[in-house]
Amino acid sequence: VEPDAAWAAQVRELAARRGAVLLAHNYQLPAIQDVADHVGDSLALSRIAAESDAGTIVFCGVHFMAETAKILSPAKTVLIPDERAGCSLADSIDAAQLRAWKAENPGSVVVSYVNTTAEVKALTDICCTSSNAVEVIESISPDTPVLFLPDQFLGAHVQRRTGRTNIQVWAGECHVHAGINGDELAAQVRSHPGAELYVHPECGCATSALYLAGEGIVPDEKVRILSTGGMLTAARASSARQVLVATEVGMLHQLRKAAPEIDFQAVNDKASCRYMKMITPAALLRCLVEGRDEVHVDEATAAAARGAVERMIAIGT
Ligand code: 13P
Ligand code: SF4
Repeated sequence: VEPDAAWAAQVRELAARRGAVLLAHNYQLPAIQDVADHVGDSLALSRIAAESDAGTIVFCGVHFMAETAKILSPAKTVLIPDERAGCSLADSIDAAQLRAWKAENPGSVVVSYVNTTAEVKALTDICCTSSNAVEVIESISPDTPVLFLPDQFLGAHVQRRTGRTNIQVWAGECHVHAGINGDELAAQVRSHPGAELYVHPECGCATSALYLAGEGIVPDEKVRILSTGGMLTAARASSARQVLVATEVGMLHQLRKAAPEIDFQAVNDKASCRYMKMITPAALLRCLVEGRDEVHVDEATAAAARGAVERMIAIGT
């Protein structure tokens, strides 16, 4: 299937016939982003899913995102074009592991990144995304110990930004972001003098970026640790000529649309998430024709998870 104008028209017509709203994450293929009603980061898409009055949500993203939409809107039909689109980060902790961790740390508040399964969310006090992780931690009394999961690099970022010493962090990681390493970043910084740096907090190289700033190799104000939505906001306000981007490569499409005058370069152009890319033009078409894959979350799990997700969407920008 070629993602041409005829394909886009067919997608739009089928979506209209189903009364479906099409949501696409910033890491989706450019053609999928361009045909969607809304493109955004995890937090923005959760909010749109919660507020939309469409009866059907087609989630072009990975499974935990579609599950989150279903948790928020159990009466809606939530479809994902390929239910095999998982997430290595969400897979790094399961409900049994979290139950055991909580039992070892009674009295701690559990903060889970939205990149988790519904079962893990059901054991969570408050979810967060990379856009609002710091604000979520700051909404908790500083004396209360926190269990933060599953991403160790986002965890280190919130520890640094909040200065709190009572945050324990799970040792999970996203294979794509962990793979963008400090050596690559340092080499790119050296070969692109003057460039700004946008680094997603899930990246293995986030600490290296701060180290490069600390050493004066790149000026402090040129290093920005940002969620994918935060990168777009920063790009729109930036007067930079060149920006090095450390995150999944799908992000470059929205950045180039948001600020066409800036030269955006990937720190690692192989940082592509194979799960995000399972949502192909053919899969989206099939989804709209056949009404599958439908996402289900059992009622008890959804009810237990809903509070944590609702607290997340109430906090931050
Ligand atoms: P954000 O869009 O919230 O920055 O999340 C990044 C990510 O890895 C989602 O899978
Ligand atoms: Fe999960 Fe990483 Fe892919 Fe995002 S980029 S969906 S965190 S595996």
